[in-house]
Amino acid sequence: MLANELSTPVLTVDLDVLERNLERVAETCRKQGVSLRPHTKTHKTVEVARRQLALGAVGLTVAKVGEAEVFAAAGFDDILVAYPIMGQEKHRRLATLARARRILIAIDSEAAAHELSRAASAQGGTLGVLVEFDAGGKRCGLEPGPQVVALAKTIAKLPGLKFRGLMSYFGNVWGTPEERRAEAEQVAQRVDRALAAFRAESMPVEIVSGGSTPSLEFAHLISGLTEIRPGTYVYNDLNTYHQGACRLEDCAVRVVATVVSTAVPGRAILDSGSKTLTSDVMSAGPKTGYGYIVEAPDAPIVKLNEEHGLVDTTSSKHRFHVGEVVTIIPNHVCVAVNMHDEIVTLRKGEAVGCWKIAARGKIR
Ligand SMILES: Cc1ncc(COP(=O)(O)O)c(C=O)c1O
Repeated sequence: MLANELSTPVLTVDLDVLERNLERVAETCRKQGVSLRPHTKTHKTVEVARRQLALGAVGLTVAKVGEAEVFAAAGFDDILVAYPIMGQEKHRRLATLARARRILIAIDSEAAAHELSRAASAQGGTLGVLVEFDAGGKRCGLEPGPQVVALAKTIAKLPGLKFRGLMSYFGNVWGTPEERRAEAEQVAQRVDRALAAFRAESMPVEIVSGGSTPSLEFAHLISGLTEIRPGTYVYNDLNTYHQGACRLEDCAVRVVATVVSTAVPGRAILDSGSKTLTSDVMSAGPKTGYGYIVEAPDAPIVKLNEEHGLVDTTSSKHRFHVGEVVTIIPNHVCVAVNMHDEIVTLRKGEAVGCWKIAARGKIR
């Protein structure tokens, strides 16, 4: 069956593009001398994670305990929860996982350390812990310096925990290639400051985990990094494209949609609204609406209702007609994927399979 014969709206992935993206980033990491621990938040899919490991990834990254459970049940080991999880029920589940798998968690507070220690020791297991520091994005993480070392020392003394190193997210590396390089140089200074504080105390740091997709080509500028955690690179999206971090033809995922109405002059209505594409607006480049219609790039999706995508056709050369099938590159692919139960795999435009998005909706 061809992609345009599928029942719409449907999420699709071009396997040739996916494989090229996976290989390119595996090679970029090898060349820069850093390990790859990809963030699974983008694909949430066991079949993609298997391909990442086959190409040399050292482990996986997740944000939620529920995601870790999905990948652990599928047989994956060495999973980093790159999120300061709080709550006794979730800590209990993490401690349970840690009895069968190597689990790492990144935290930035004494409160989390004490709770995790109680949960892990109650089950007789050990959780690996990274201390999160702020690389400049001002989201989570301690200011690089003595406070990071102080938390590491607390963790090292607590039963059920093992201090393994540092973690930071480079979300501030964003924008044009020049802006991203300049920001990566700033990040390098903050990583250096964090590591200097450990050197001053002669305290070894085994893992230094950083990265993101827009920063991945600059990993070599950041000395001391042992691994990076890009997620978006597997599929890419309009935000990645508008930062010059991928080409349009590197965007592997498309939403296939049908035109369901052209009754209102100047409008074409798609069967894909906010419950399919998400309401995420662009956070890089021009404000181009809610996705890129490959067949009609001059026709922006200007508004979304839950099940309607409203396309402005007034300046488009394309003649939309009811029943026509179009393909859309999402603004932000990670959240779009999380809207769907499955993703249809394509080879040369032909549907060849379907993967369950097994960790979708795992928000706890
Ligand atoms: C902690 C953490 N690590 C890694 C990533 C992956 O970044 P990207 O989506 O740019 O690949 C994210 C993205 O949100 C993140 O929050």
